[in-house]
Amino acid sequence: MNHPLRLGIAGLGTVGTGLVKLIDRQSNQLASRLGRGIEIVAVSARTRDKDRGIDISRYVWFDDPLELAKSEDIDAFVELIGGEGGIAKDSVETALSAGKHVVTANKALLAHHGTELAARAEERGVALNFEASVAGSIPIIKSLRESFLGNEVRRVFGILNGTCNYILTKMEQEGRGYDEVLKEAQDAGYAEADPAFDVDGHDTAHKLAILTSLAFGTEISFDSIYVEGISTITPEDIEAADDLGYRIKLLGVAQKTDSGIEQRVHPTMVPKHSAMAEVDGVTNCVAVQADAAGDVMLIGPGAGADPTASSVMSDIIDIARGTILPPLIVPSAHLSPYKPARMRSHEGGYYIRLSVLDRHGAFAAIAQRMAEQEISLESIMQKRPRTALPGIDASRSPGDTLPVVMITHETLEAAIRKALTAIESDGQITSKPQMIRIEKL
Ligand code: HSE
Repeated sequence: MNHPLRLGIAGLGTVGTGLVKLIDRQSNQLASRLGRGIEIVAVSARTRDKDRGIDISRYVWFDDPLELAKSEDIDAFVELIGGEGGIAKDSVETALSAGKHVVTANKALLAHHGTELAARAEERGVALNFEASVAGSIPIIKSLRESFLGNEVRRVFGILNGTCNYILTKMEQEGRGYDEVLKEAQDAGYAEADPAFDVDGHDTAHKLAILTSLAFGTEISFDSIYVEGISTITPEDIEAADDLGYRIKLLGVAQKTDSGIEQRVHPTMVPKHSAMAEVDGVTNCVAVQADAAGDVMLIGPGAGADPTASSVMSDIIDIARGTILPPLIVPSAHLSPYKPARMRSHEGGYYIRLSVLDRHGAFAAIAQRMAEQEISLESIMQKRPRTALPGIDASRSPGDTLPVVMITHETLEAAIRKALTAIESDGQITSKPQMIRIEKL
């Protein structure tokens, strides 16, 4: 049998601990499947003496992950520290420069520095593998790298954040409050150390930046992504979406357009009968539309210790087998510069919710502003205020507002924005309009 692949693991949080347990469970079977053992020789974490439910006294301990990254005793460095820069970035750079293979689950690091890190790995002839950085256990990176390579990808999109999908699902199915459900996602180990990264859409954007590069052969361009999170979504929106035959999902979408590549992250109304709408809880879903393969969807757990450790393991196995590929599929020298499409030229249908003053002419003024931008309406609903319950005096008084929900036919985003700005300045509404894009699936 060949000599074992020796690992150094930096970071023993949810994923690091999950990986140690998985290797413990699988090591005998893996050795016989691969003809080669996989052995953890050293670890590093912020705190040594913490009950993680694993025995780390078997491994050499490093206080400093940088020392571990260049240790003579390891073949591959597994970075599970997290974070865009700091010690995570320094340790990955150190490992690559020392000629070590690197496996990481760090989407923030790749989204911001992936292009340079890939070039460095190629120069040194080592692997930089990151399957676990996108969509938990779903093998989307391997699929883009291997299965779709002979295709022209038109669009890649999906539910890429388990925490947000968990929150939206629980709010819809159980009518529970946002804060309570977020706390549950944190307790289950799904959320980022700072959950604002999840709910503000940045985690999805990190993952989308990686997918865009892999799907379209471009340099990674995180800063060009249009990002909106889920914190403005109200129970009224979820209820109205339900009435209209939609569910609200936080989607990341990257697609080729005539003017460049569109990259966007925002809450999206998806038809209830679509497969994407059925993706519940912490589950993720990635859809790839490609010329030869057609429309393909991959669905699976998007966060949590075991699913993420499973993807880290698959990267380690590639290294153990000697499969070393250019990290961004296309060799670094052949990546194209990223050319962005303008968000304002995005075309689609829109859901709009307004708090309209209950007075004569308000509806006509709103309809006029929409018509000026040549926006046609598919449906319009006047919703009963949530406070107006049966049996309660619903008599109207000056200053009352009525929730109004509209669905538009396909139009340009620039037109919608102009119409909403005009409606706001007309003084017919009492709070900022809510606008949610509708995605054709
Ligand atoms: N916080 C992330 C999520 C973890 O909820 O999807 C997996 O990347």
